Amino acid sequence: MRYLVTLSVNWSLPFNEKIQVAEGIKSLTPEAFRQLHESSIKDPATFWAKVGSELDWFRKWDTPLDNSNPPFYKWFAGGELNASYLCVDRHAKSWRRDKVAFYWEGEPWEKSGPKDRRTLTYADLYREVNRVAYLLRSRYDIQRGDVIGIYLPMIPELPILMLAAARIGAAFTVVFSGFSSDALADRFNDSNVKLVVTADSGWRRGAVTPLKPVVDTALAHVKSVRHVLVVRRSGLNVEMHSGRDEWWDEALSHVSSGAKVEPEKMKSEDTLYILYTSGTTGKPKGQVHDTGGYLTLLHATMRWVFDARDEDVYWCAADIGWVTGHSYIVFGPLLEGVTSVMYEGAPDYPSPDRWASIIERYGVTLYYTSPTAIRSFMKLGDEWVKGHDLSSVRLMHSVGEPINPAAYRWFSSLVGKPRIPFGSTWWMTETGGIMISHVPGVGMIPMKPGTNGMPIPGIKAEVFDEQGKPQKPGERGYLVIQDPWPGMPVTIYKDPERFKQVYFSRFKGAFYSGDYAVKDEDGYFWVLGRSDEVIKVAGHRLGTYELESALVQHPAVAEAAVVGRPDEVKGEVPVAFVILRQAKAPSEELRRELNLWVREKVGPVAALSAVYFVSKLPKTRSAKIMRRVVSAVVSDRDVGDTTTLEDGASVDEVRRAYAELAEEVKESRVHSAT
Ligand code: WTA
Repeated sequence: MRYLVTLSVNWSLPFNEKIQVAEGIKSLTPEAFRQLHESSIKDPATFWAKVGSELDWFRKWDTPLDNSNPPFYKWFAGGELNASYLCVDRHAKSWRRDKVAFYWEGEPWEKSGPKDRRTLTYADLYREVNRVAYLLRSRYDIQRGDVIGIYLPMIPELPILMLAAARIGAAFTVVFSGFSSDALADRFNDSNVKLVVTADSGWRRGAVTPLKPVVDTALAHVKSVRHVLVVRRSGLNVEMHSGRDEWWDEALSHVSSGAKVEPEKMKSEDTLYILYTSGTTGKPKGQVHDTGGYLTLLHATMRWVFDARDEDVYWCAADIGWVTGHSYIVFGPLLEGVTSVMYEGAPDYPSPDRWASIIERYGVTLYYTSPTAIRSFMKLGDEWVKGHDLSSVRLMHSVGEPINPAAYRWFSSLVGKPRIPFGSTWWMTETGGIMISHVPGVGMIPMKPGTNGMPIPGIKAEVFDEQGKPQKPGERGYLVIQDPWPGMPVTIYKDPERFKQVYFSRFKGAFYSGDYAVKDEDGYFWVLGRSDEVIKVAGHRLGTYELESALVQHPAVAEAAVVGRPDEVKGEVPVAFVILRQAKAPSEELRRELNLWVREKVGPVAALSAVYFVSKLPKTRSAKIMRRVVSAVVSDRDVGDTTTLEDGASVDEVRRAYAELAEEVKESRVHSAT
């Protein structure tokens, strides 16, 4: 039996295709795994307490879960620990002292190979984290509870800084370097940032991308920032404001190599970081993650999902600017004392096989990547992969968006050898770590191309129907998590009401993820995509709100609706439908201008794929734009129930604009080809 679930994914799900896992990994039947899982969720707090006790605590907790004030749960209440101590000191003071923590590779390439490489052992990390912690405290007066704003490229200073902040009990908020000044200012204002750390620039596809100038523009609108610390990366000439800005290397040159800072004894529920995520409405939400619960989840998933062992070389090819990098480049692997690869740039620079050369160069055994990356490699052809010895890889996972079975099969046969564990781990910024996944470190059920597997031990997930009842197998519903879990957000920064309303009001007592999912007859979960208007561009999560509010700030724009359109490689790309102000005429030039405008306001990460001019947009009678309808048109789906629509002709208007531009593009292709 094959089901066809058409939603954001337009492929049929091979519910019954099963690939057995190779030797070396314990295999389990789905039934055996379900039983094991059942016993873990009978009493999740006791189950997680066993996992939590594997970390080194300064003080043991009084209770594993304080659930006196739902949904504001406190994991390991009364316990004290420090993330920097757990990720660095423990290893630096053990036999792992000279073990490599990071093999870092910069993007620039010379004839003979990568131009910039650095190797950091755990002892090096210990020294640098201490020095930076010392600098933060002594020179910039950063105290426990202060927030540091971070806008850095993928360079070793980034994890060092995150660990140094954690060491002295300061929280941090990292903003992805693909966001621009307005997005930065919003986030830094919301979190009341005291110090900003940035770099002169980063490298992307051979080009220098300025960062410090973006910070300067943003800070014109942020009052709380007193100092800016700037790492030199490319040597780009940037303006330094005297009294406010300092170079990282110069400031650190005054700190001795033996400087030490005692790790603060943090309460388990103390904030480790705030990370902003976009939603449908309103400004981005600052997800607040705690220390004890979060690290416990990372410890568990590094072991169960990645089966991380001391001899492994692990590479998570994400960016630290997103949650995947926070959890699975910085805190997760370092907690386990793993050797990681950290790469600065584009996977296909200077040639399409850069990523494969990295696997070969470092002998990567555990590889964590994204469906978009896999699809882009697939498009470039097999020969780029075949030229490299990738036999070291023993386990792979992907994350960020659904993986289509065709991409899964291609990657699995070319890189993974078909029988090594290869899963699609489902989780979100909110969940802190992986929730639904195959767990090779515990035991593997057969793999199915495109599935997420089952909830990991200790996590009670379900697919609900509209009424909040478990959905029938094979039927689409809403993905929820039914019990509190370690790693869950503490709140939305400064907005506990919104936290309750967004995640805990839709279904009583359950966390609402906002994703559609199906559970098949074997109990495997298949996450299909968002049920709200969040767009996933190359796995990057973008809210429609930021893009639309950027558009309506343009003097020519009266109204705008942004939706995601399916894309062969990136999964989705944002497209905008725009109503112009009276007296403004649509033109190619204006289209380009609006594109540039959004790029400048929100950042290159939000670049629009197309702008359509319309005279009306589908709205409800209460004047709310029905993005769902617009989205159906650009995805060639049925527009569904339109009874609440105020003016039916608006749908035809959207269709017309969409078809017209498609026609123009076709024609211009014909012209340029002739
Ligand atoms: C989507 C990324 C299908 C999902 C860690 C979720 C996935 C959103 C998968 C969160 C997967 C993530 N299969 N969809 N394996 N992993 N998603 O916050 O829609 O950037 O809600 O966290 O990504 O994105 P976020």
